[in-house]
Amino acid sequence: MSTNYFSREEVAKHNNSESIWIIIKSYVYDVTDYLNEHPGGAELIKECAGKDATSDFNNFGHSSDASNLMKLYKIGKIKVGIAYFIFYVVYNLQFTLSFLP
Ligand code: HEM
Repeated sequence: MSTNYFSREEVAKHNNSESIWIIIKSYVYDVTDYLNEHPGGAELIKECAGKDATSDFNNFGHSSDASNLMKLYKIGKIKVGIAYFIFYVVYNLQFTLSFLP
């Protein structure tokens, strides 16, 4: 199955009750239909609409049930920008080289 990639700008557009997307750990979730079923309430999720909710999600210590449920709403991944990609490669190269004698 091919993966859909979205930029953070694209996700940010889905910030209203018509369509609510959130980012958790680099994955994109369409939670429009899940809002009213969320045990933590619709309001909390609405506040994160269009944004990265990773730290909020972690702060509330979700169970493995929640992680399983999330799979149903996953629609894709965040597209990584070229600047970040270069940073990542250089950063890891330095780390790898630091082990050489
Ligand atoms: C796809 C995204 C999410 C899913 C599938 C999800 C699912 C769940 C589930 C199943 C529970 C019940 C307890 C558990 O099993 O851990 C829960 C509780 C909760 N969630 Fe989420 N959640 C999501 C996103 C969020 C976000 C973004 C926030 C915060 C901004 C949040 C805040 C909470 C809170 C505060 C509770 C505790 C409710 C209570 O115990 O009274 N959740 N969530």
